[in-house]
Amino acid sequence: MIKPHGADELKPLFVYDTEKHHALNKEAEELPSLLVTSATAANAVMLGAGYFTPLTGYMNLADALAVAESLHTADGLFWPVPIVNLNKDISSIGDAKRIALRDPNVEGNPVLAIMDIDAIEQVSDEQIDFMAENIFGTLDGDHPGVATFKAQGNILLSGSIQVLNFSYFQTDFPDTFRTAVEIRNEIAERGWEKVVAFQTRNPMHRAHEELCRMAMEDLGTDGVLIHMLLGKLKPGDIPAQVRDDCIRKMVELYFPPNTVMITGYGFDMLYAGPREAVLHAVFRQNCGCTHFIVGRDHAGVGDYYGGFDAQTIFDEKVPDDELLIEIYRADHTAYSKKLNKVVMMKDAPDHDKEDFILLSGTKVREMLGNGIKPPPEFSRPECAEILINYYQNLDS
Ligand code: ADX
Repeated sequence: MIKPHGADELKPLFVYDTEKHHALNKEAEELPSLLVTSATAANAVMLGAGYFTPLTGYMNLADALAVAESLHTADGLFWPVPIVNLNKDISSIGDAKRIALRDPNVEGNPVLAIMDIDAIEQVSDEQIDFMAENIFGTLDGDHPGVATFKAQGNILLSGSIQVLNFSYFQTDFPDTFRTAVEIRNEIAERGWEKVVAFQTRNPMHRAHEELCRMAMEDLGTDGVLIHMLLGKLKPGDIPAQVRDDCIRKMVELYFPPNTVMITGYGFDMLYAGPREAVLHAVFRQNCGCTHFIVGRDHAGVGDYYGGFDAQTIFDEKVPDDELLIEIYRADHTAYSKKLNKVVMMKDAPDHDKEDFILLSGTKVREMLGNGIKPPPEFSRPECAEILINYYQNLDS
């Protein structure tokens, strides 16, 4: 099976030993504690679940700056996005070196992890901007990722963590949330050798569905891992439960049995386009996938990134020997009225724009909000029904 990134075995930071877990939970209640940001909590969940192997905790300033600039830590580990614990105010922990991190996303703010602090560093505004600009390619405050990143504060806590739970993800999405450990195990149990992963933060429309099918066929994989983001999104994006319902319906009706794993991970969307695509590839390798689909405007938002920047970054910024997972690059995909099927535009060079069924996100939302199903060439009617139901209840 494909090796995890930078390690021979996955290194989940969740404490699996029951006795140790019990003791740490007890200890945590006595420790000075810090209410962390949602981004910091999501990092803990990803670290706990093994997705961020081989990291052992939050990065210090030297590593965070080096990763932002060159996609490598100061020690030379390939890593695409700083994994940080930034705060505005740490007065609640005094001078403690071992602290409890409290979860902002669960009622009562229970302890999510225990952290051993290596360093507390003050980050200058210039350094925050340097990181933001490198991660997101912009400093525009209207970019949702930039706004979230910059709102976290300037006090950086670095050091290792022990994770005690998976926040709200395991309780809210018991059938869908999976750790990297669980996904690796399931791939092994199924006996799959070649597996392509599909990242998504949307209900899957026909283009998404066909991309999975094309990748499976072109690569000759044993199956596809549909791996949806379950964390926070920008306002207007569709909640995870609704997306999950659409995806399950689509797979049930349109994919052969035992070819798809429907799973999700607990991370907030960064909207970092190319950089996030590389992070996506790293953690799908950690899940045991051999291939990863990157299509048009992957992890993008607005017009901040070129349509295929998330593909070219793999040529420009990812040295050949750093990742074992291979990228399946998809061109803009849409339904061709001439060929009566969904195709990649590069495979239909004789087509004009009018030969495809193209609908903007805004148009689709408007239709669904008015109870109108988009054409079946764009959305499966059974999925459109779920979305109409969601949008109509939203209005009432
Ligand atoms: S993302 O933010 O998670 O990337 P989304 O769920 O819409 O958003 O996309 C999932 C994957 O499908 C990404 O790799 C994206 O590039 C790809 N994709 C979505 N729609 C298309 C399309 N029409 N043509 C090509 N690729 C697409």
